[in-house]
Amino acid sequence: MGEVDPAFIQDPEHRPKIAFTEAQGIPLIDLSPISPQSSDKVSAVDEGVVREIGDACKEWGFFQVINHGVPLEKRQRIEDASRKFFAQSLEEKRKVRRNDKEVLGYYDTEHTKNVRDWKEVFDFTIEEPTIIPASHEPDDKEVTEWTNQWPDYPTELREACQEYAQEMVKLAYKLMELVALSLGLPGDKFHGFFKDQTSFIRLNHYPPCPAPHLALGVGRHKDGGGLTILAQDDVGGLEVKRKTDGEWIRVNPTPDAYIINVGDIIQVWSNDKYESVDHRVMVNSKRERFSIPFFFNPAHYTLVKPLEELTNEQNPAKYREYSWGKFITNRKRSNFQKLNVENIQIYHFRI
Ligand code: OGA
Ligand code: NI
Repeated sequence: MGEVDPAFIQDPEHRPKIAFTEAQGIPLIDLSPISPQSSDKVSAVDEGVVREIGDACKEWGFFQVINHGVPLEKRQRIEDASRKFFAQSLEEKRKVRRNDKEVLGYYDTEHTKNVRDWKEVFDFTIEEPTIIPASHEPDDKEVTEWTNQWPDYPTELREACQEYAQEMVKLAYKLMELVALSLGLPGDKFHGFFKDQTSFIRLNHYPPCPAPHLALGVGRHKDGGGLTILAQDDVGGLEVKRKTDGEWIRVNPTPDAYIINVGDIIQVWSNDKYESVDHRVMVNSKRERFSIPFFFNPAHYTLVKPLEELTNEQNPAKYREYSWGKFITNRKRSNFQKLNVENIQIYHFRI
């Protein structure tokens, strides 16, 4: 990634500002009142947290959580393993490379909106195997399995990833419970959708970039799934588009915090009450950056549509029903190669 290939260059209107705005960041929410260590239901004393989550989802689509119950050593273990993996030669990393048949593993040619991202990634799913449609074609009913490709080195990577994944799933259910309560729904309203989850975790590595004013680590995008839980290191670079004025706001690293954002599916379920917000990643010329997002995604057969409880005659459903499995297979296809069409977006289902 030494020289800047034109494939990485953003159109002028999407290039980052080097002097970024730090003012008035996304909300920071303390989850200690809800004791995420236990599997108990959220109790009445946690109404304050529910309100904070609801306000953050409405006003920002993004927030950070602290005292979330994920043991720090599990996070450090996966972060260390990730550093070791990416420090290897390209030849070694390519042994677990993504290809036409295997969609998981390592790759360094992801495109967001048809511009190449300045990053390399390693993807793995939570369910082994994960069941998914065989193709993005709407009439093709066949399903296939996504299987993880684990590298030989570092040897602890697989276990570190699997243990961390269990922690993410626990936190994700807790967060979905809070989101449901904040919408006036029963706490377990969303749980059933995630039974055969298609969730995955991505290890991101953003190498130093000689042209940080021209390229992005990840171009502007919205996360397509349910909810994202992101661990970022102390370098910083994530920017969120502020809803009030469209300004790009830097998310400052907070030690041991997780950054949570609403994905497109929550936007549709809530009939636009909560919006999935654009975000992007800036790179810099000096320091490499690592991050680990967990994408909490429902079963492939989930038909996503606004919840009946949240629609009525005054507020009719704003989206037609769509298949999550077809949506994600469509996305995977366009992220892997440069296509001449825009990739699938929820507004394509807008009524
Ligand atoms: C993503 C993403 C942010 C980051 O992978 O979808 O938004 O900070 N990542 O790496
Ligand atoms: Ni994202």
